[in-house]
Amino acid sequence: MTTNGPEVSGSKFYITTPIYYVNDIPHIGHAYTTIAADTLARHNRLRGRRVFFLTGTDEHGQKVQKAAEAKGLSPQEHADRMAGNFKGLWQTLDISYDNFIRTTDPGHKKVVRELLQDLWTRGLIEKRSYSGWYCTPDERFWTEKDLIEGKCPECGRDVERIEEQNYFFLMSRYQEALIRHIKENPGYIRPETRKNEVLGFLENQALGDLCISRPQKRLQWGIPLPFDEQFVTYVWFDALVNYYSAPSYLAPSYPGPWWPADVHLIGKDILTTHAVYWSCMLMALGLPLPETIFAHGWWTIEGKKMSKSLGNVVDPAKVCGEYGVDAFRYFLMREIPFGHDGDFSEAALVNRINTDLANDLGNLLSRTLTMIEKYRDGVIPAPVSGKFRRGWTIGGHQTLEGDVQDSFASLNEDRIYERHLDELNFSAALGHLWENTVRRVNKCIEDSAPWKEKDDDTLSNLLYCFAESLRLIAIRVYPVMPSSARQIWSQLGIDEKIEDLPERPGYLEWGGYPLPGRKVKKGNALFPRILTAAAAARSGAGAAPGGGKEKKTAMIKETAKMQEANEAAEAKAPEDKDLIGIEEFAKVELRAGRVMKAEAVKGSNKLIRLEVDLGEGQQAPRQVVAGIGRQYRPEDLEGKTVIIVSNLKPARLMGLESRGMLLAATDSEGTLSVLTADKDIKPGAKIK
Ligand code: MSP
Repeated sequence: MTTNGPEVSGSKFYITTPIYYVNDIPHIGHAYTTIAADTLARHNRLRGRRVFFLTGTDEHGQKVQKAAEAKGLSPQEHADRMAGNFKGLWQTLDISYDNFIRTTDPGHKKVVRELLQDLWTRGLIEKRSYSGWYCTPDERFWTEKDLIEGKCPECGRDVERIEEQNYFFLMSRYQEALIRHIKENPGYIRPETRKNEVLGFLENQALGDLCISRPQKRLQWGIPLPFDEQFVTYVWFDALVNYYSAPSYLAPSYPGPWWPADVHLIGKDILTTHAVYWSCMLMALGLPLPETIFAHGWWTIEGKKMSKSLGNVVDPAKVCGEYGVDAFRYFLMREIPFGHDGDFSEAALVNRINTDLANDLGNLLSRTLTMIEKYRDGVIPAPVSGKFRRGWTIGGHQTLEGDVQDSFASLNEDRIYERHLDELNFSAALGHLWENTVRRVNKCIEDSAPWKEKDDDTLSNLLYCFAESLRLIAIRVYPVMPSSARQIWSQLGIDEKIEDLPERPGYLEWGGYPLPGRKVKKGNALFPRILTAAAAARSGAGAAPGGGKEKKTAMIKETAKMQEANEAAEAKAPEDKDLIGIEEFAKVELRAGRVMKAEAVKGSNKLIRLEVDLGEGQQAPRQVVAGIGRQYRPEDLEGKTVIIVSNLKPARLMGLESRGMLLAATDSEGTLSVLTADKDIKPGAKIK
């Protein structure tokens, strides 16, 4: 049985993202759709499919015209600058798009005009006098009954009454055919809930015709209608056509047609335009419909809708700068099932990084390489199945590494990981992979305790098993975390590119690749652990001297020094890793306290005496002495809510009793920041 990827080799896979408006700067929402599309594109390339992954920008329309005017630029200049922002972000996020469409491309405009001409010639577009309620920011007309309390039902803003002549695409004619198509093709609109939404809408109300023009006197920034240059094309008609126009001038060479697209990935906000308008447009044009339109959910930010006015718009480049591109990609794909809404917070991101990435995958790589360096001079040993490990059993009993090998074999047999990805179940795919491979191999290391192993062959088998597991895990994580996967391969001493795998048969088989004899190259920690406030206390970062300013977040990156110490500890005794259980951590009592008074300690330029209210009722505030005098003035601390280790044995400093320790973070440059609560919270609140 060969279970390598190219089962689908030869077929094509055309995937699209929405084309993003150039009036906005790219944020986490745009990044989400694009990362999901990138994951699917990479997954399909790895399976030997010819992939066309398209993204781009939507550059016409009133909003762009207005944004450009506000900046004193021409719409084209404005669009050029903004399209650059998206391209820049995609480079940062390691997005492997094949081409980038801009609706101002001559190649696109030509196709839009041809399609409009075709519909016009065949009588599927009509000129009518029209009056309706128009929402300028959304660029949409609404009927009287659509309005909610006289406002736009979508954005709640004012609408204006407009009467004008316009061109209409006779969309209503396709209502029945569309209902049939959706019912006959259960995978057409996904997930199921979205399909039902669209069907509910189509089955319960008459579909209107679609106004597809805007008079030039109101809007100039658009594609002129080929049959009446007094009008420009409605921006949505223009934008949706991008999916069809791009293959004609931007697609890689492929012997067959790229159209129809295999997957249109969109957010739930633009479901109607895709599932209804676009489908009807294609039917009218006599073109095949895409295989699947998948509408994913929306991210809120710490429980709130993301908006400029709330100032909580998440800049993906900033998050990646702080936590790493692959960690961000992994978080978005793993945290919530695709299709559901999710909530983004730094705490949730840090939690994923520390558990799945640092503790599980990163640790697996670093301990494996450390052992290969220590016990085999850095050279991956060959398994010694000839001696007593044939079939990975000893005396009929499965060996620990045999169990691991089995896990990979069953992953190949049921192809569950690939199937989850094909189904866009990114989170389930990764969850399955971690449960059945990453954590299982780590457990095998603990259970087999190679550092105690006296038999050389057994040790070789174990070390080979861990290295081979990592090779196979890297291939699986590659679509989601391409750069980490490459690093794992390179640290295993493999020069070949994962991208070149479809050329190599059997690459997903256990032993399907010449690994033994390669010299490992241990590099930096794949995913540095991120320290939380509580962990900072354990590491001694609290109340340490340094110099610096206050930070909003109570999380600090593990310093390079600490990482080195961790690595050294691993190399010395992999079994004695410096980990503690939750019960040990629970012994430390951390509380929020309000600084009532602060004063410099006489005779010391470092110590500050604080009186801190820890909500202890009748008791006087606690006296805490902290070594932060070089970075803070006493008056800057008064009124702050700080974090105190409240069950520390009292200590005496310069003759003063300190009943508790103030937490502060110090980074590798020596910047010190006292940890504070970012919300008003009662003194005495427990930190867990
Ligand atoms: N230009 C249109 C799309 C035309 S496609 C033919 C458009 N552009 S947009 O810039 O507003 O991007 C919308 C897309 O951004 C959504 O469909 C979704 O992919 C993504 N998101 C925007 N905000 C989001 C969240 N808060 N969460 C998740 N994704 C969201 O609409």
